[in-house]
Amino acid sequence: MEYQISDAKGKLGILIPGLGAVATTFIAGVEAIKKGISQPVGSLTQMGNIRLGKRTENRYPLIKDFVPLAGLNDLVFGGWDVYEDNVYESAMNAKVLEPGLLHSVKSELEQLRPMKAVFDKEYVKNLNGTNVKEGTTKWDLAEQLMTDISEFKSANNCDRLVMVWCASTEKYIEEGSVHQTVESFEEGLRNNDPSIAPSMIYAYAAIKMNVPFANGAPNLTCDIPALLELAKEYGVPVAGKDFKTGQTLMKTIVAPGLHARALGINGWFSSNILGNRDGLVLDDPDNFKTKEVSKLSVLEEILQPDINPDLYGELYHKVRINYYPPHGDNKESWDNIDIFGWLGYQMQIKINFLCRDSILAAPIVLDLALFMDLAQRAGMSGIQEWLSFYFKSPQTAPGLKPEHDIFKQLMKLQNTLRHVMGEDLITHLGLDYYQELVEAL
Ligand SMILES: NC(=O)c1ccc[n+]([C@@H]2O[C@H](COP(=O)([O-])OP(=O)(O)OC[C@H]3O[C@@H](n4cnc5c(N)ncnc54)[C@H](O)[C@@H]3O)[C@@H](O)[C@H]2O)c1
Repeated sequence: MEYQISDAKGKLGILIPGLGAVATTFIAGVEAIKKGISQPVGSLTQMGNIRLGKRTENRYPLIKDFVPLAGLNDLVFGGWDVYEDNVYESAMNAKVLEPGLLHSVKSELEQLRPMKAVFDKEYVKNLNGTNVKEGTTKWDLAEQLMTDISEFKSANNCDRLVMVWCASTEKYIEEGSVHQTVESFEEGLRNNDPSIAPSMIYAYAAIKMNVPFANGAPNLTCDIPALLELAKEYGVPVAGKDFKTGQTLMKTIVAPGLHARALGINGWFSSNILGNRDGLVLDDPDNFKTKEVSKLSVLEEILQPDINPDLYGELYHKVRINYYPPHGDNKESWDNIDIFGWLGYQMQIKINFLCRDSILAAPIVLDLALFMDLAQRAGMSGIQEWLSFYFKSPQTAPGLKPEHDIFKQLMKLQNTLRHVMGEDLITHLGLDYYQELVEAL
């Protein structure tokens, strides 16, 4: 299939529900980078290279020079939050970036005031903001969001928009009958069905407005048949769930390596302490459950105990998150990994990762926004599985197991870029190099 990718001309508006730690670190970062104060470290689109053709050709362009992505100077930001703070104030409260750095982009950030949120304490108990829309039905709230979207687009003279969910993790919801078809979902919006969470209302509004939607939290959100059907109908790309940062990033780097060497694992205990607002929200058991489900699936999928019972059949995997205010956004995680090798001899690995959650998440927001826009310009709609690289719990087609191994995810992402640009896929087979040498002799 030939892809006709339209140009990334004009402005790209990035709309963000949830202007908290991650979103403000992302926006402030882009503004600082635009001024030449900093570099977009951790962003594959900006700093990553891609190999093209044979190794002997030495073609390793930057990804941003290979695929037509929106430039940083063409990005415009907007969003919603339940608190009225502008992006400068919210970034100062989040205490991720230093005041000096924030001061240098203060005028750009101060202009960004959150629109009133679609919010209900029923889904996030530990927040009390008042910058919230009023509406008698969820349908009405969806319409208000659509109005926000179209007003933002014209006020900012945007050519295209994308939406990236950076709001709090909602309480755990299971897929139910209201989520099955567009019809049942719309009926549920009119009846205020409790199984329709605010994040689903944002996703619905985005898709209806032809805006690609990526979900950075573990909520179900657009991972339901009704919204996937709608995304196909409107030709809109969607992706989720839950930005892959911190401990899970480490897990999907280490576990594939142990698995690759056929080393056994019988225990993996992960604990975290963090003290930001995300930690406060996750302190509620209903919200933690959503996160726990997202984090637990990772090892099962990488290690596949069912087909490798001798090595992983006994695996005991536990994840704990504890709210600890003194650490702020500087999350600390400990992993104790009990492994075994030749003849079953036991070994242990301890990982103590002192990370900065939002510093790891911000470049993911940037890459997702740029790639989701690319996907839409390339005519790709529905689930964008090639962006699994960025998610803890990648969204896949029904019946398809997600790929969690970060190296396979990267290969999939890069091959997708090669594919849409009409370049040869790279299989890493490499025998052809030796074949040619033999023939040359
Ligand atoms: N930081 C990371 O590394 C990381 C990794 C994976 C996922 N996440 C997820 O990303 C999200 C954001 O994380 P954060 O650290 O920025 O949290 P945060 O608490 O600092 O920011 C979230 C913001 O969303 C707002 N909000 C909540 N519900 C809303 C709604 N319905 N509409 C609009 N705004 C709403 C809150 O008021 C808050 O300002 C969380 O769901 C978190 O679980 C973060």
